[in-house]
Amino acid sequence: MKERNPFIISGYSGPEFFCDREKETLTLINNAANGVNTTLISIRRMGKSGLIWHTFDRLNRSGSHTCIYSDIYATQDLRDFTNKLGSAILRALPEKKPAGKKFMSLLKGLRPVFSYDALSGQPQVSFTFASEEQYEQSIESLFRFLDSQKQPVLLAIDEFQQISSYPEKNMEALLRSQIQTLENVNLIFSGSSHHLLSEIFSNGKRPFFASTQFLYLKEIERNIYKDFIKIHMTRNEIKIDDEALDYIMDFSRAHTFYTQSICNRLFASGLRRISIDAVIQVCNRLLEEYEQLFLQYRNLLTPVQWNILEAIAKEGRVYKPTAKVFLEKYKIGIPANIQRGLESLLKKEMIFRENDKNGAYYSVYDLFLSRWLENLE
Ligand SMILES: Nc1ncnc2c1ncn2[C@@H]1O[C@H](COP(=O)(O)OP(=O)(O)O)[C@@H](O)[C@H]1O
Ligand SMILES: [Mg+2]
Repeated sequence: MKERNPFIISGYSGPEFFCDREKETLTLINNAANGVNTTLISIRRMGKSGLIWHTFDRLNRSGSHTCIYSDIYATQDLRDFTNKLGSAILRALPEKKPAGKKFMSLLKGLRPVFSYDALSGQPQVSFTFASEEQYEQSIESLFRFLDSQKQPVLLAIDEFQQISSYPEKNMEALLRSQIQTLENVNLIFSGSSHHLLSEIFSNGKRPFFASTQFLYLKEIERNIYKDFIKIHMTRNEIKIDDEALDYIMDFSRAHTFYTQSICNRLFASGLRRISIDAVIQVCNRLLEEYEQLFLQYRNLLTPVQWNILEAIAKEGRVYKPTAKVFLEKYKIGIPANIQRGLESLLKKEMIFRENDKNGAYYSVYDLFLSRWLENLE
């Protein structure tokens, strides 16, 4: 019988379907065991959330920690944050166990509204206090509660950069002052905005300065990823050519989500032998499917911004965007255009800025969009 599609494109499905990240997982486990908080950073879709789930899976198997995951991507203020934290703890502690019962009685004292998340069906709480102080106090009691648990706690706050957009400006100071007193709780702060997270954690004037260890998540090593793909194909009696594997890694630049997407499609195609031509076809199909979306992006950008985006896509990585050769080659015009253009493309997350051994560079954020733009005349 044919196995399920082993190339997952959302969430986490256990260690079998998770490629590598051995070192990173050990770092997170060691940090948790040694009282070190971690700031986990990468561009989007590289695998931060997956790595957190993978680490939790290990820790849950060994039973050493209580693991709590809170995604604050959709939060806009202190109140949302408190709700998410309360809900995350509620989900992590089984209702019938003593810790779950104790948490329930704490929660009831805070009089939240209990409900179920419309999408996931998971339980959630929502607090309705009159003042900011009450939210702050509630966060404090949630942390106190975690700190009083018998078992050590590992709390991951995903998309942490979100707190910089809250209207409450003391959020960092508030969290820092509470977190630094915790003895039984370690944290993972995860996020994709390198710029915002560096500001929070490496600016000497800010509350979280030098309080965590940085972990930068890069691409999975190509040979390891190729082996992973081959193993799963072979297990399902699918033969994949070496050039096909190389093409997948080149096209996706080993950016996890895109590599997974291509492999997921190849697996779903039902082919018993995957050649390089089959891969090229699948990649083209994916770009075609996204085309409508990409054309909508064009409406959201000015012609100059679109032109810059296309230029960056065609170059792959742009190290010197203000260089005359680059401006002239792509007819970008006066240097002020490029400065303004880069800023607004960064803000819209159409491009990202990263470092490699040659220095800082700009790339188009969405790999499929980048590949599609490259093909434009
Ligand atoms: N090591 C891995 N092996 C296989 N698939 C992975 C791995 N890491 C992440 N993924 C998959 O890649 C996609 C992007 O990963 P995700 O963890 O959501 O990235 P991020 O949190 O950095 O935006 C998800 O669909 C996830 O299931
Ligand atoms: Mg994520």
